[in-house]
Amino acid sequence: MFENVQAAPPDPILGITEAFKKDSRAEKINLSVGVYKDENGETPVLESVQAAEERVVAEQKTKAYKPINGDPTYGKNVRELLFGEGASLIDNGEAVTCHTPGGTGALRLAGDFLQSKAGIRRIWTSDPTWANHPAIFKAAGLEVAKYRYFDPANNGLDFAGMKAALEEVQEGDAVLLHACCHNPSGVDPNLEQWKEIADILNEKKALPVIDFAYQGFGKGVQEDAAGLRRVAETCDEFLVCSSFSKNFGLYNERTGALTAKSSTRDIASAVMSQLKLTARTNYSNPPAHGGEIVNKILGDQELKNQWISELDAMRERILEMRTLFVESLQKSGASRDFSFITRQNGMFSFSGLSKEQVERLKLDYGIYIVGSGRINVAGMTPSNLQQLSNAIVAVL
Ligand code: LMR
Repeated sequence: MFENVQAAPPDPILGITEAFKKDSRAEKINLSVGVYKDENGETPVLESVQAAEERVVAEQKTKAYKPINGDPTYGKNVRELLFGEGASLIDNGEAVTCHTPGGTGALRLAGDFLQSKAGIRRIWTSDPTWANHPAIFKAAGLEVAKYRYFDPANNGLDFAGMKAALEEVQEGDAVLLHACCHNPSGVDPNLEQWKEIADILNEKKALPVIDFAYQGFGKGVQEDAAGLRRVAETCDEFLVCSSFSKNFGLYNERTGALTAKSSTRDIASAVMSQLKLTARTNYSNPPAHGGEIVNKILGDQELKNQWISELDAMRERILEMRTLFVESLQKSGASRDFSFITRQNGMFSFSGLSKEQVERLKLDYGIYIVGSGRINVAGMTPSNLQQLSNAIVAVL
């Protein structure tokens, strides 16, 4: 049967790391996948995670299955992170949460639920968006449309274009938004713009689906949820897909959550029953370890404070690298103004480099970035910066 199977192309993001590993050049640099590295180029286990993990292992009595939607305390802790301490949506039953295998698991669960249970046929994604978004939603059987988002002329948000495109959204469509640290552009709407977006989607009777993979990497844990909270004030129904890969450094533990907000508790409970059915036929129930670590940290004020200060330190290091990167490009003689890089949020810098320039960086200099020109600033260190800048200036 298998002789008719055609080889698939490499993954546009994870496939780059596969190619990087095969490159024998000593001076190669991998700035493709969104993984945080410290100034020594390591991706360490956070100290708060290590402490929580020790307690989880010491206290564990069983490896029996988790509930299909995970532990109720996990859901509650996730909702508190999303909506803020004391928010009614934490406990009022209108918002329900499934513990999922990573943010990708949350997105796929969302896609499957929308397509097979909620009668939604089409989802709109920003242009550009994370390379895996369209693939996930297409795999779930949804039609994927694009709305204008990034303006290459000023390296900022094309808000007029975005609003015009959202006017085309039909009742019953879903619209994917990045809660903060837009991947790949690093360009986010401001709070007034979030309010306008929420109003448009509410008026159109479209469903906001919010991908929240970088909470804490933009301005801070609370600040980064401000756009989502604007949507929650305006729209009765929405979904949030959380990833804890980056902010807890739990990449390989596949730890995430899907939160669904409905207009009443009864509807929310029907939605949860269908989400559970959808999860059951997909991965059955979530992997326990990462979720237990997150739960331990969020449920213990001391560990939570430690985690927030570690997250603050990651964000500040990235901000410092942004400034140093722009300075070093200038020193290397860049003819272009790259100062916009300091205004972008999160792990990534959308450099404006063309596909050909990205290819030359790889072939001639052993520098691996994503084909769209996205550079992982969180992978830069003071020691690889000069080499990177020199190479970029050489391919400009
Ligand atoms: C990225 O965009 O690099 C990350 O979200 C990792 C991934 O799975 O693609």
